[in-house]
Amino acid sequence: MIVLGIETSCDDTAAALVADGPEVLSSVTYSQVGAHRPYGGVVPEIASREHVEQLPGVVDRAVRQAGLAWEAIDVVAVTYGPGLASSLLIGLAGAKALALRCGFELVGINHLEAHLGSVFLGANALPPETFLPARALVVSGGHTCLLRVERDGSYRCLGRTLDDAAGEAFDKGSVILGLGYPGGPAIERLAREGNALAVRFPRGLRRHSPGPGSRRFDFSFSGLKTALLYHLRDNPLAADDDIRRRADIAASYQEAIVDVLVGKALSGLHDERSVLLAGGVALNACLRARLKDTAERRGITVLAAEPEYCGDNAAMIAALALGGGGLRGVGPGELDAEPCLSFDAGRLWFSEKRA
Ligand code: KG4
Ligand code: ZN
Repeated sequence: MIVLGIETSCDDTAAALVADGPEVLSSVTYSQVGAHRPYGGVVPEIASREHVEQLPGVVDRAVRQAGLAWEAIDVVAVTYGPGLASSLLIGLAGAKALALRCGFELVGINHLEAHLGSVFLGANALPPETFLPARALVVSGGHTCLLRVERDGSYRCLGRTLDDAAGEAFDKGSVILGLGYPGGPAIERLAREGNALAVRFPRGLRRHSPGPGSRRFDFSFSGLKTALLYHLRDNPLAADDDIRRRADIAASYQEAIVDVLVGKALSGLHDERSVLLAGGVALNACLRARLKDTAERRGITVLAAEPEYCGDNAAMIAALALGGGGLRGVGPGELDAEPCLSFDAGRLWFSEKRA
């Protein structure tokens, strides 16, 4: 079976073709970062206009790079939430038009579930059951979720961010530090030159103990952002001669985020065989290394999504549909954008097929 995946939930316009395996035949992503950079974050109006302009060409390139005829495609899978309403609508319109015109089956995909499944793509295309049950951490620009994935592929969310997402904390911190957008790569780059112990930033919800109603698996990053703001107010950076101190602050700020993510990802484990790591923030080398080192010292494997499948991409959207996941049996007239689509519980893509 061949699935065409389409992803337009935020500021990446992406299309991919995936065959059984899952084997990624092509994966094309147009990043809109250049268009949003002047504003220090994603502007929904600009994002949807860019999707309108870029989507046809991106889909066309994905089909050509796979070396297939349009007739070879069986299914078109598209993200229908969560995400920006105006961005989701463009991908949905494109997918519906293709379903109607070419007779493809239409499948709606939950963007976060696709991020979770992305750990099993590319070089990681190993039998998922080997890694289960697992703890999973999905960290992106809009979401931070800690999950439990059972042996049968069913998953349930244990905790999430109460305010800013981890990626948002990087993006906002970067703007405060004058490093621009997107913040994750900018902070990571500068942090390499700095001392992560220079400033002790707060670790939100760190000390919550187990128990009913506990925030043990939830995250909060908004206090960290405020602490950075106050630190700079009380210790202003001078113009150019302060590169070193700026690097120390970036490293300490990154350290606070990584410390909380790794601490919570590995807390309260019992029979889990691995920790799965996915989403745009999973590109962070410090997070990947720290999680791996700390988990492996405790005999737990870490399976992090391949770098090319961490950020938003359409291969993860197609792969989910290929395995039998997603919302099926909906006609082009019935599938709507769900900007606040929940990610509380469900079954991973591979489970339907192998159960
Ligand atoms: O998953 P993603 O591409 O889009 C969403 O679904 O949100 O994640 C984008 C987020 C942005 O906040 C970006 O700053 C962050 O991922 N990010 C990083 C790194 N690369 C991207 N955060 C930390 N370190 C990185 N190297
Ligand atoms: Zn994403």
